[in-house]
Amino acid sequence: MNRTRRLRKTENIRRLVRENQLTINDLIYPLFIEEGTSIEADIVSMPGIKRYSLDTLSKELDEVVALNIPAVLLFGIPTKKDEDGSETWNDKGIIQQAIRFIKKNYPKLYVITDVCFCEYTSHGHCGIIHNNDVDNDATLTNIAKQVISHAKAGVDMVAPSGMIDGTIQTIREALDNTGFVNLPIMAYAVKYSSAFYGPFRDAADSSPSFGDRRTYQMDPANRDEALREATFDDQEGADILMVKPALSYLDIIRDLKNNFDRPIACYNVSGEYAMIKAAGEKGWIDEERVMMESLLSMKRAGADIIITYFAKDVAKVLNRK
Ligand code: PBG
Repeated sequence: MNRTRRLRKTENIRRLVRENQLTINDLIYPLFIEEGTSIEADIVSMPGIKRYSLDTLSKELDEVVALNIPAVLLFGIPTKKDEDGSETWNDKGIIQQAIRFIKKNYPKLYVITDVCFCEYTSHGHCGIIHNNDVDNDATLTNIAKQVISHAKAGVDMVAPSGMIDGTIQTIREALDNTGFVNLPIMAYAVKYSSAFYGPFRDAADSSPSFGDRRTYQMDPANRDEALREATFDDQEGADILMVKPALSYLDIIRDLKNNFDRPIACYNVSGEYAMIKAAGEKGWIDEERVMMESLLSMKRAGADIIITYFAKDVAKVLNRK
C-alpha cells in the first residue's frame, strides 16, 4: 500500500522531506516615519507597530539590525500635504532625511522606499487629480521627480505602489538618465483594491477623502489580469514583481512564480496582521503558530520575499530555534 505517513514519523524525517522554509533572509520590515520630534505613536489597529520620528527611530533600527533582518521599507508621513504631493520630491523631505539617516548610521541595512503620493496629497489619492480621477500621465512626471530625489538621498531600491500605468518604464528611464543604472525597482505589479489596507491607512494617514482606488488598483475578482499587469512591469524592467495583499491572493503569487523569471515578493498587509494580532490577543488562536503558518503559506505559494509587520516577531521565533 502507498503509505504517505512513513515519511511523517519523526521530526527528523519530516525535516528531511520538508519542501519549504521561512527564513530571516526572506523578510522586509515596513517602517512608518513621521515628520516632527519625539514621536513614538502606537497604531491602535496594528499592535506592536508605531510611527516614529527620526530622533526616536534608532531604538527600532537597532532591534531590526540585531535580529539580522536584511531590509526595511519606508513610508513617510509629512506635516505638509498639498494637491500634488510635492513634498515627495523635496530633497529635504521626511523620507529623504530618513534615507540619509539610516544609510549613515546603519550602512548595511538595505533601504527600500515606497514610492507613492497618497500620504502626501491633501485628497489622499495616489497621484494628481483631474476630473475627479487620478490623471495617469501627469502623475508619471511627478513619480520620476520623487524617485530621483530618493535616489540622490541614497536609497538602495525603490518600490512604486500607485498602480499608475507606465510607472516602471518612467522610473527606469529617469534613473538611467541620471546615472542610477544600478538602482533596482521592486514593482507593486499586482496590487488589488483591497479592504485589507484599512489599518495601514490609519497608520499612514492616507485614506482617500473622496471615492476609492478602484480606477487604478485591481479588482479582487480578477486573476488573468494579474498576468497582464505583471507582464507590463516585467517588460518595462521591474527587477522584482510583487503581489499585494498576500494571504487572500496566494493563487496570484503562484501564477507569477510560474510565469516570470524574476524574484517574486508579496506584501503581508496591515489587515492580515491586524486579524492575527486581534485573535491572538483574545486567545482565540495560537498567534505565533498562525503567524508562522501563514507566512510559510506565502513561501509555498512561491514568494521569494515577504514584506511583513511580523518581521521582528518571526525573526525572534527563528532565532530561538
Ligand atoms: C500606498 C500604499 C498602501 C499600502 C502600501 N502602500 C495603501 C493603499 O494603497 O491604500 C498598504 C499596506 C498595508 O495595508 O499594509 N499606496
